[in-house]
Amino acid sequence: MAIPAPILMMENVTVDFDGFKALTNVNLEISPGALRILIGPNGAGKSTLCDTIIGRVRPTSGRITFKDQVITALPEQEIVRRGICRKFQTPGVLPTLTVIENLLIAGRKDRSWWKTFTHKAPKDELSIAEDLLEKIGLADRRDFMAADLAHGEKQWLEIGMVVATDADLLLLDEPTAGMGPTDTQRTAQLILSLLGKHAIVVIDHDMSFVEALNGYVTVLHQGQILKEGTVAEIRADPEVTAVYLGRSDDDDTAEA
Ligand SMILES: Nc1ncnc2c1ncn2[C@@H]1O[C@H](COP(=O)(O)OP(=O)(O)OP(=O)(O)O)[C@@H](O)[C@H]1O
Ligand SMILES: [Mg+2]
Repeated sequence: MAIPAPILMMENVTVDFDGFKALTNVNLEISPGALRILIGPNGAGKSTLCDTIIGRVRPTSGRITFKDQVITALPEQEIVRRGICRKFQTPGVLPTLTVIENLLIAGRKDRSWWKTFTHKAPKDELSIAEDLLEKIGLADRRDFMAADLAHGEKQWLEIGMVVATDADLLLLDEPTAGMGPTDTQRTAQLILSLLGKHAIVVIDHDMSFVEALNGYVTVLHQGQILKEGTVAEIRADPEVTAVYLGRSDDDDTAEA
């Protein structure tokens, strides 16, 4: 079977913050519908890499291509319009709206804000939001205020909001931050259920989560790609172990 052309390509991307190189010559290819797990110690450049893809940070040199078009210099909202959506490290739900309203707003086709509040959501948008509500496991929280959700539920709602945009590439920055083991495993299952329709880049520190996802891993270290491979290959790599995977095999959470 032919390998599909990558949906996203980063070629020799360097980001220099006033003399400090947060990324150096990064090359990365993501296939349509595929998962990529991005790990690395604190300050490795993981969030900067996502910021650069979405146009919030500009590369000093290099090129980023999305769906065969160069997006390196496009404004962030244009990149979003073309089908990339990013979830930040901290949950960004709208606290005073209900769960279903949050999903509807994230997914609305007509982006005029007044229509959001004065018109009922079109039937098709409502049915998409209801399906998504099931998918993220929050059907019984449908009419709860987002502010009243538990921490894990807020994270799932925000993943749902990213999915609601129907972007082809989702960037999830630490979706399990602050979660216990049960919620972390549920998050892994949720992400796996989204693949195929969406390519997903997930940044995370938690090795139990990375193992549950069991996808292709890119290890960043000091702004450079140190290694790429399966979870097992990464686990077995002495260089990765030295810089990242902690001091003992039974230490599940990697430390900086
Ligand atoms: N706007 C900026 N100006 C200057 N330096 C920055 C800027 N943004 C990030 N950095 C630096 O770039 C490096 C990479 O930061 P980044 O946030 O990408 O790391 P990270 O891998 O996401 O870390 P963490 O695991 O802590 O989230 C850090 O040393 C950080 O201080
Ligand atoms: Mg980060």
